[in-house]
Amino acid sequence: MTPRAPSPPDAALPAVYPGSFDPVHNGHLDIIGRARRIFGRVIVGVATNVDKQAMFSLGDRVAMLRAATAGQEGVEVQAFEGLTVEFAAHLGARVIIKGLRAVMDFEYELKMAAMNKRLRPGIETVFMMTSPEFAYLSSTLIREVSRFGGSVTGLVPPPVEDRLIGKTR
Ligand code: PNS
Repeated sequence: MTPRAPSPPDAALPAVYPGSFDPVHNGHLDIIGRARRIFGRVIVGVATNVDKQAMFSLGDRVAMLRAATAGQEGVEVQAFEGLTVEFAAHLGARVIIKGLRAVMDFEYELKMAAMNKRLRPGIETVFMMTSPEFAYLSSTLIREVSRFGGSVTGLVPPPVEDRLIGKTR
């Protein structure tokens, strides 16, 4: 049987990629790019995580994501308040994308996916494994390294590096 050419991503299939992105790093950008190859529209939803003290304002986090994804067709960045599932439903998205690193994310993500499913059964959480080179990267580590003057070159996009330097030096 002749293998079929891969079909283009379905433009009518938007997916929401939510997070606090404080700040966005190259692991997040890897997930956005890979998700975009599957989904016609990837809407990056920037929220406030009530359990975390943010380094950057919501506006700054959105601005950094927009700068880092500028020119990527089909990728949009929006801030939202309230529940992720309601944000997704409002946009007509039936998929929430989450990145999974090693084992550390599993329990937290499993709980959240189960609750989101209960709240909106028609919305699926789709997990994408983080690429190995980003497996141990987190915004928390980026903030910490930067606070103590370490280099985060190659781990975050240039607009984020500039803002981190401005914030911590
Ligand atoms: O990058 P983070 O901090 O892990 O992202 C967490 C986030 C923002 C995706 C999560 O806190 C969230 O979905 N917040 C919106 C409120 C909500 O829907 N909470 C989960 C209910 S199960």
